[in-house]
Amino acid sequence: MAPRRALFSVVFLLAIGAALLFWLADTRNSQHEKSRTAAVSLNDALFAADTDRGELVARASGCIACHTNTENAGSFLAGGVRLESTFGTFISPNITSDVEDGIGAWSLEMFAQAILNGRRPDGSHYWPAFPYPAYAVMSGQDIADLYAWLQSSTPVPVASTKHDLLIPDVARAGLGIWKALYVSENYKPGLFVERGEYLVEGPAHCATCHAQRDIIGGVPDRRLSGNSRGPEGAQVPAITSTELADWTMDDLVFYLEIGMTPEGDFSGGHMAQVIEHGTAYLPLEDLKAIAAYLKSPANRESL
Ligand code: HEC
Ligand code: HEC
Repeated sequence: MAPRRALFSVVFLLAIGAALLFWLADTRNSQHEKSRTAAVSLNDALFAADTDRGELVARASGCIACHTNTENAGSFLAGGVRLESTFGTFISPNITSDVEDGIGAWSLEMFAQAILNGRRPDGSHYWPAFPYPAYAVMSGQDIADLYAWLQSSTPVPVASTKHDLLIPDVARAGLGIWKALYVSENYKPGLFVERGEYLVEGPAHCATCHAQRDIIGGVPDRRLSGNSRGPEGAQVPAITSTELADWTMDDLVFYLEIGMTPEGDFSGGHMAQVIEHGTAYLPLEDLKAIAAYLKSPANRESL
């Protein structure tokens, strides 16, 4: 009996310890989450929304590439894109304006909670395969425009597919700890004033692929110094100002518009999608701002 009781005590104490850790992490996160939504201060009157601007925000942010299953002729924004990772396969959900299967019934507040704080309407955490850590800096205006554009999308009645993960989906409950570790308390709207830095670090989430991830999928150092294990295990090149020394501003703008490098090679894999569904649509001033930030000394190898 005694060893069993001892084992029971150990398991019991571990469970209490884990619960306490989850609770502490969530308390800490919720303070930062409140400050993010407060900074955005969701008020329809404050942010007159514009659907055309919203589409550009979606283009800059990669929403379309990740939520449209172009490979299998899936409907626009109806999800179904398979994202392979070391944790299994994430399958992007339907984000059309469909009331049943998409986000048609969501309020602006629910939407902001998802994009800025990575929380579902019921308060549980999203997996960070959805790059909300970078979106945490997005401005209230961008959120309002994006919401208006998505709500104007064609509703598609296709149910989202469950992820195919190696870890049980209930492990989401532990993501509060992940967020406390990686979604820096400093990531909030208003952090980046300069347009190029805002786009690169925020909505365009370039670091999600161009920075090294650690074993639990965190990006401890957001410098764009390359990633040996990018999406589908592919190598992602470094794009710091040092690495891009041979690229002119025009080379970078051209690459983000057309996908052709100064050597005349065409971009492949995930970058081709980033360009085709995203940066190719951005106004020239935005592309110039991105290029200027990439070439600036601020975009260096290490922090
Ligand atoms: C790298 C791929 C990727 C990108 C880029 C991306 N998402 Fe997602 N998104 C996902 C995945 C995967 C999930 C599911 C996360 C989960 O189940 O925990 C998701 C979930 C969502 C949800 C929650 C839907 C629901 O039914 O609960 C919304 C809303 C959403 N994304 C909107 C967007 C918007 C808007 C953008 C652009 C600003 C965007 N996503 C960019 C992959 C992506
Ligand atoms: C979904 C992952 C992903 C995202 C997000 C992403 N990239 Fe890339 N990027 C890649 C991959 C993969 C390559 C290599 C492409 C190839 O081999 O043709 C690449 C290549 C590049 C190159 C060419 C570098 C070289 O030396 O040839 C530049 C420049 C670049 N990306 C800039 C950006 C910028 C700026 C952003 C943000 C706006 C960004 N990327 C976002 C995956 C991504």
